[in-house]
Order: sequence, then structure tokens, then C-alpha cells
Amino acid sequence: MKLQQESLYLIGFMGAGKTSVGNLLGDMCGLAVIDTDQVIEKQENMPIRDLFERHGEAYFRELETDVLQKLANGGAGAPAIITTGGGIILKEKNRQLLKESGRTIFLQCNPKVVVERLQQDTTRPLIKNKTIEEINHMYQMRLPLYLECAITSIDTSAQSIKEVAESIKLRMNI
Ligand code: S3P
Repeated sequence: MKLQQESLYLIGFMGAGKTSVGNLLGDMCGLAVIDTDQVIEKQENMPIRDLFERHGEAYFRELETDVLQKLANGGAGAPAIITTGGGIILKEKNRQLLKESGRTIFLQCNPKVVVERLQQDTTRPLIKNKTIEEINHMYQMRLPLYLECAITSIDTSAQSIKEVAESIKLRMNI
């Protein structure tokens, strides 16, 4: 079965599994998968890490909103699975777009598990050199914003990518 009219957005904190789950779900359902970070990287021809370093977070956030706006206005061409950067919910405008243009699922993940998953990661500027307490604080600040946008949430802390993708497929009837 295909998505009927609306795209499916996956939101959640860094390391929650949005990209991995989205890719598997796309394969399972025969749907295109679009990752907002990858669109930005392609467009700017540089990794997110370098983009933050050279132009700063505010510049990245503007690009992120532009990409989301285009996708929300049908830029994907057909309903798709759209995976997003963990901070997409920070802007009110983005939250509106997520609420209005598709079905948004929050991939929840215990911050301790996030830290474990991202220990060796060097690609995410916002957690570089951060303590567990700081990451936990960022997570707690964002939590209400994720919940505001999502029609449902799935805890990925103790589940495999396959289990989460199957659960979404079932719950969203795709
Ligand atoms: C960010 C998350 C990253 C990326 C950027 C900022 C954030 O995406 O968009 O580094 O603010 O949480 P992932 O959630 O895919 O790591």
C-alpha cells in the first residue's frame, strides 16, 4: 500500500534513528525517502559540520526551513518519507509546516542511549564536546516541541531499526 496523500515526517533527537528507520521504511513500502540534511549538504556541496563551521547555525536553520517549505509544498513530487534534522522543531514556522503538511512521527530515544550511540560521532556539531548533562538538557528543552508536532511517538531506545520501521508501517497503514 502507498501513502495516500500526505508525506510522512520522522522527527526526533540526534541518534534516535530517523535516517536509518526512514531508509528501511522506504524500502519496505516502495516509497521515496528524502532527508532534509542530505538535501542541504547536496545543495551547499559540503557536510553539515563544515556548514556550521563556515556559516554558523543560523544560516543552516534558514536553509533547513527553505527545504522543509519546498517539501511541504509538494516539492517531493509525490507523498514520501521525509527524515529531518533533530533541530527542525526549534522554529515555530517549521512546527506549523510539520503539523499542516503531513503525518509526523516522533522517534523518541532515551538521552543516555543517544549518548552511547553517538559517542564516536564527529559529524554533529551541536553535540561535539558536550557533556551527558548538557545533551540531556538539550533533549529536555526540545521534548515538548517534538511532542507538539507529532501525531504519535515511538520509543526507539530498546528496539531495532527493523522493529521501529515495522511498527510505523503498521500504525500508519502504509
Ligand atoms: C541537528 C541535528 C542534525 C543536523 C544538525 C543539527 C540538531 O541532524 O541537522 O547537525 O540541531 O539536532 P540529525 O538529527 O540527523 O543528527
